[in-house]
Amino acid sequence: MTTPRGYRGSLQGVVAAGAAPHGYTLALWTATAVTVSARDTPSATDALALLTGATLTYVTVGAAAHGGPGRPLARTAPPAGPVWAALHLPTAALGAVLSALLAHVLSGLLLWGLVGATATGVYLLGSAAQFRWAGSDRRPSPPSPVPTAPTRGTAMTLVLDPAAQNLLFREARTANTFTDTPVTDEQVQEIYDLVKYGPTSMNQQPLRMVLVRSDDARARLVRHMAEGNRKKTETAPLVALLAADNEFHEQLPTVFPHFPQAKDVFFTERTVRERSAALNAALQVGYFIIGVRAAGLAAGPMTGFDADAIDKEFFPDGDHSVLAVVNIGNPGTDPWFARNPRLAYDEVVSTV
Ligand SMILES: Cc1cc2nc3c(=O)[nH]c(=O)nc-3n(C[C@H](O)[C@H](O)[C@H](O)COP(=O)(O)O)c2cc1C
Repeated sequence: MTTPRGYRGSLQGVVAAGAAPHGYTLALWTATAVTVSARDTPSATDALALLTGATLTYVTVGAAAHGGPGRPLARTAPPAGPVWAALHLPTAALGAVLSALLAHVLSGLLLWGLVGATATGVYLLGSAAQFRWAGSDRRPSPPSPVPTAPTRGTAMTLVLDPAAQNLLFREARTANTFTDTPVTDEQVQEIYDLVKYGPTSMNQQPLRMVLVRSDDARARLVRHMAEGNRKKTETAPLVALLAADNEFHEQLPTVFPHFPQAKDVFFTERTVRERSAALNAALQVGYFIIGVRAAGLAAGPMTGFDADAIDKEFFPDGDHSVLAVVNIGNPGTDPWFARNPRLAYDEVVSTV
């Protein structure tokens, strides 16, 4: 799904960004109106009690959702679901009904404080449940093949289409089984032609790739894989060996032409080249995995293998170091291990 441009695109953006504020406005306004009709016009202190009840409830629910009052506010929108998930009628109506009941038994500051608290609490808890239920966030694992529709939380600041965000990141998984559908050289070339633009230091591009296609090569590779990686490496439609070229500096005058001396100024020592090649080719491995996902395929990267043996077997020139073996294809039966938790933003990022 692509986001339309022009007026319709703007309208979509306004509706999507306004979904939660719209619902909360309705909920609080309706609860207040119902209470006024059951009682009387609130005094200024009643209005402040409403404000206090609503604010305290908002902060309390927010702290519970974030794991504490000191945690940073999540910068994500609700899980992306269908438009109807923003149907705020049930939550606003429930808040109004509860407010009317309160107005029959209470009055004054207590009543108005509780009306603010009730409308806020019912709206937050109810609409979160509604978005959760309507979005596919509750699914245990993505369908096979990797989906292309937006189904999860969509950050408001990202400009990448939500469907692409899901395809490349949220819904993408590491596959351990594959269907028989072949992966063609054309697909691999398109993937490479996309990810070759990923940045490397001095544009050195040390990644080299060997596509393992023949039965003989597959058998020679599988015997160097760790036991747990053998079956999937035997059965994946395509296996790619991703290696660092430790002699990448020979290409520098071509790929970094405005500083042709770089080759001799920085990279005369093999150990320096190996370090730089390992870092930059590993970056390119990451770009490649994302590129595989961009092709609608699943990748199964592995480092569980005898690297020296693979280097001898597939890179007999002695100038390459295998970094990863990547199975590529469409996910097969029961393709994923359980999804493991990711570290949260504030566990990873600090500001100085
Ligand atoms: C560099 C690298 C090496 C990996 N090595 C192995 C491996 O040897 N065997 C294996 O079964 N999985 C391997 N994995 C898969 C990871 O365990 C998996 O990508 C990670 O747990 C995330 O899984 P998910 O994408 O399903 O959430 C490797 C992944 C990467 C990126």
